[in-house]
Amino acid sequence: MKDRIRQLAKEKNAIILAHNYQPPEIQDIADLCGDSLELSIKASKTKADLIVFCGVHFMAETAFILSPEKTVLLPNTDAGCPMADMVEPIALTARKKELGNIPVVTYVNSSAAVKAVSDICCTSANVIKVVSSINADEILMTPDRNLAQYAAANTSKKIYLWDGYCPFHNTLSEQDVHQARKEHPEALFIAHPECPPEVLALADSIQSTSGMIKFAGESDRNSFILGTETGLLYPISKAYPNKKFYPASEKMYCTDMKKITLNNLADSLENLTGKITVPEDIRKAALGSVQKMINL
Ligand code: 13P
Ligand code: SF4
Repeated sequence: MKDRIRQLAKEKNAIILAHNYQPPEIQDIADLCGDSLELSIKASKTKADLIVFCGVHFMAETAFILSPEKTVLLPNTDAGCPMADMVEPIALTARKKELGNIPVVTYVNSSAAVKAVSDICCTSANVIKVVSSINADEILMTPDRNLAQYAAANTSKKIYLWDGYCPFHNTLSEQDVHQARKEHPEALFIAHPECPPEVLALADSIQSTSGMIKFAGESDRNSFILGTETGLLYPISKAYPNKKFYPASEKMYCTDMKKITLNNLADSLENLTGKITVPEDIRKAALGSVQKMINL
């Protein structure tokens, strides 16, 4: 199966991108694994004709927004992001108007239609940089209220929250962290900014998924508790086999991130199934927000 996938990718001049939370066998066969920011940058620059996105729907959509001349495939179109579904364009536009048309910063975990009515996008890796770059004192951030509170705590902006959250990161509690620290007292606790503020307050470092891998590599410590989706345990342990990594909670398991299989991937490459497109008017409007972020 793996040989067939690599052969098909070569024949079709395809690049296979995988998010850090994807199943191990998908990460192993991908051309590039990374966090949302790294994958969007790669999708904007690749010379491949075909982008096969092993992640969730909004990620493939972002690749299409940036590269409409390419074919973008999501090998299992059931793979979505529940947080992205917590905001839609009509309600967002109404809220923006109610707040006097202040700038809207939208997390990439959102639909193209929501990006289209936003001013700029951000990811977990660049949220502080993006928010700081806005030429206004007040901002509305969607959909993740935890990411927005993290940005508010680290910039001088007043940030209006949207009531969205990641159903997995948001379950991590202070109690879980205390328990994990008790079991691994030597470990540093690294948290993803999608975790609630009281959990972030306990963190030794707050990072995107690839930021966590980098942080662990650069640290002189040898063990880490990860406050993120448990899929990250695979690439981080692979990168540093002599270091130890523990999940802050086994509850942080995103079922959508595990929907793509090697079979889906081979099928998608062979038959071009799972094509993701965006209507041109929405794509153009969304591109403004995504491109501004990439330029930063
Ligand atoms: P990053 O990999 O960009 O940190 O994002 C995490 C995530 O939730 C992707 O869905
Ligand atoms: Fe969405 Fe959370 Fe899954 Fe990421 S981990 S895709 S934010 S539900």
